[in-house]
Parts: sequence; structure tokens; C-alpha cells
Amino acid sequence: MKTINQFIMPKTAKRNSKGNLELGGCDCLELAEKYGTPLYVMCKETLVDMAQSFKNAFEDYPNFQPTYASKALMTKKIAEILHSEGFGFDAVSGGEIYTMHKAGVDMSKVTFNGNNKTPDEIKFALEVGIGHFSVDNFSEIEDLADALKGSDKTQPIHLRITPGIECHTHEYIQTGHLDSKFGFDLSQTDSAVEEILKHKNLELKGLHAHIGSQIFETKVFEDEVEVLIKEIVRLNKKFNLNLNEINIGGGLGITYTEADTPPSVYEIAEIIKQAIDKNCKKYSIEKPKLFIEPGRSIVGTAGVTLYKAGSSKQVPNGKKYVALDGGMADNPRPSMYGAEYIAEVANNKVGEPLETVTLSGRYCESGDILIKNTELPKIQKGDILCIYNTGAYNYSMSSNYNRILKPAVVLVNQGQPAMIVSRQTYEQLLENDL
Ligand code: LLP
Repeated sequence: MKTINQFIMPKTAKRNSKGNLELGGCDCLELAEKYGTPLYVMCKETLVDMAQSFKNAFEDYPNFQPTYASKALMTKKIAEILHSEGFGFDAVSGGEIYTMHKAGVDMSKVTFNGNNKTPDEIKFALEVGIGHFSVDNFSEIEDLADALKGSDKTQPIHLRITPGIECHTHEYIQTGHLDSKFGFDLSQTDSAVEEILKHKNLELKGLHAHIGSQIFETKVFEDEVEVLIKEIVRLNKKFNLNLNEINIGGGLGITYTEADTPPSVYEIAEIIKQAIDKNCKKYSIEKPKLFIEPGRSIVGTAGVTLYKAGSSKQVPNGKKYVALDGGMADNPRPSMYGAEYIAEVANNKVGEPLETVTLSGRYCESGDILIKNTELPKIQKGDILCIYNTGAYNYSMSSNYNRILKPAVVLVNQGQPAMIVSRQTYEQLLENDL
């Protein structure tokens, strides 16, 4: 069965009776009119469908905890929705922890990741009762032990390891290869465990790894499970421990363009479950508690961005540019990773002849191009453009470059739009200026 990450559009995307693009039962032109542009639009049905696919795919696994990687998109409402779907969360900062805490998330289902957690963040995470720390390096063992000194609390932890697995994705989003800034090299895990065992407030429960993002291969997950289980068995034996949890990170890819061919959640789940089965039999151990941390695949496809077309320019004997009212500050992915996207004109131009255009942003950078050389009906000033697959790592990586305001985020569901993040105002822009 196909899952949401294998489609370019949200599941509710269609042309309505006016020929306009509709999402979650809402006309995109009306959304643009009501909330302004650029506008991030999230389709709740698509988001929930994907979250449920993860749960269904692992339903028969005895002890499974999906945790949403909140760096992909974190707002109070998104936290509430995924919390009510039974998800835990992966947090990497005090700000993410604060947001989910305020949203009423069960903090015992939150894992605190990151390679340089500050003392204040560690203190805050302990205060709100974070479920697990994924301890990334030697200095964190010390910092965490220091923060717990004098208390009778025992903090469950995982040890983040670099499993030495390379996946074929952009270099900046590969994380599991050996020369990575994240986690302990396998040659260091013994010393790390020795260090942890000196501190009675730290309770090592298992191992964590994350091999990368926007992954299409399945074999890498099989290899990762093998490395994690083998290492758990070795550490249990050597240190007489009872580690029985593995966190395999996130990474499942989505379909930005037709060239992307990610596996379904069910395919990936089968590979992971079979690999666990095989390795547990091999070492005669019980199946460990399994944590998985999808980010992009949960929210990516559910989100689109609506822009209004502005000026255009035909370079003599060159490209035709159409400038949108957003760009690299609301979607830095094309300029950072060379990411590709698909766009559609949201107002009714169905069937009109196509021309090749480059969609540029409005920021003062030549690299501020959202889509190069794409075929679209002839665009006029005021047309509304929809760029698909912007639900993940767009709002969360947005900035105020050029002092342009961050867009609003609207959640659409069954004909009802609800603003979940308001558009920034000029007053807010100056809020911290002294
Ligand atoms: N777990 C850990 C420890 C991670 O570092 C990440 C992503 C995830 C889970 C979630 O991975 P996902 O399922 O979203 O692939 N800004 C980049 C992506 C950076 C990913 C960083 N870590 C982009 O826009 O492509």
C-alpha cells in the first residue's frame, strides 16, 4: 500500500468547481485573500494519515514508540495533533521543549537530542521531566551528571552512536557516517559506558543512531538495526548491563518531484522489523523497545506554500523570471541544498499553454531561486502559485532576512481554515531591538 510520502500533493488537493486549487476543502485563492501571502498551508488529513501509517505499520511490534522529529515543524498546534495521535517527540533545543511543554505534551515521551546541549537547556529538560536524553559526547555525560548531582532522580539515557553507515543523500543531511559531528564513534562506546556507570543518576537504557535524511534506500536501515543490536549485545555482555532500547532515528524520504522514489512506511517498517527479528534470534535476546524519529515524512507532504506572483523579467536570449512575494527566507532549501520543488498555478489556468519560467524569490541574493526552468501556464501579476512539499524544514528554518516578515501558518481541514501561527508584524520585528 502506498503511503503519503510517495505522493507530491496533499491527499485533499483537487480542483474545485471554479477550477481553483483546493486543499483540505478550502479554496487556495480564498486562503490567499483571507490570510495574505506567502502563506504556509498544512492539510490536517494528510498529516494525520501519515502519522497513522507509522502506527499501523508497527502495530504488530511489541514495544514501539514513534517520536516526531520536531525540528521539521514545531508549533503548539502541530505538537497537540501529534501528541493526540500517540506520538512522542524528538527535541533538540530548549525552544522546542518549551513549545511542546506549553502544548501539553507528555514529556516522558520526549527524547532530548543534540550535540551541544547548553547547561540551561539540560536544567530545563530535567525540570519538565524529559523521558530520555540521547547523550551525544563525553562532555555531555559530565554536564548531565553535574546537573543531577545531589538529586535522587535517575535519568534514562540513550547513547548516540555513529554507526558508520553512509546513505546517498545530500552531504549536509548525512549524519551516520564515521566522520560526523554527531555521536560516539563505535571505538568510543566502551569508554562512554564506563563514564556513565560512574554516575548513579544516569540510567543507560539503550542506543540511538540517525543515519541521515531524505533517504530512499531500505538496506541502510537493515544495516543500522544490525549495528545497534550487535552493539547492545556486546555492551550488555561486557558490562553486565540490560540495555533493551534502540532508537533508529528518522530519515524516510518524501516525493518532492517525480524523480524521488521513497519507499512506503510499510516497506520500511517491514525491513526494520525483519532486521530486528533476525538479529534478536541470532543473539537470542528479547526484542528491544523501538523508537523511531520521523520528521520530514510526517509533515512534508501535508504542507504547501502559497505565493503571489509579482514582477517578471525576460532576459534577452535567456531565462524568463517570475518573482514571487517570498523566497529563500521562507524556504531556504533550494539555496542550501539545491532542493527541487513542483509548483502549480492555484487559480484556474487549467489547459492554458505552458511556458518555461524560473520562479525567483524577492530577497537580495542572486541565489534566491525557488524553482529553475519549470513549465507553467503563462503567469500574470497577481496569480497565486502553490509550491508543494513545503511542510518540513521550511517554516522551521525560516528567517527574517531583509527584515521581511515570516508568513502565517494555516491548518486546513474539511473546509475549515484555522490560523495556527499568525503572520509576523513590524512591531514584532522590533520587539527585541533596544
Ligand atoms: N532524528 C535525528 C537525530 C535527526 O538529526 C533528524 C534530522 C531526524 C531524526 C529527522 O529526520 P527526517 O525524518 O526529517 O529526515 N534541514 C534539512 C534536514 C535536516 C535533518 C536534520 N536531522 C533539510 O531541509 O533537508
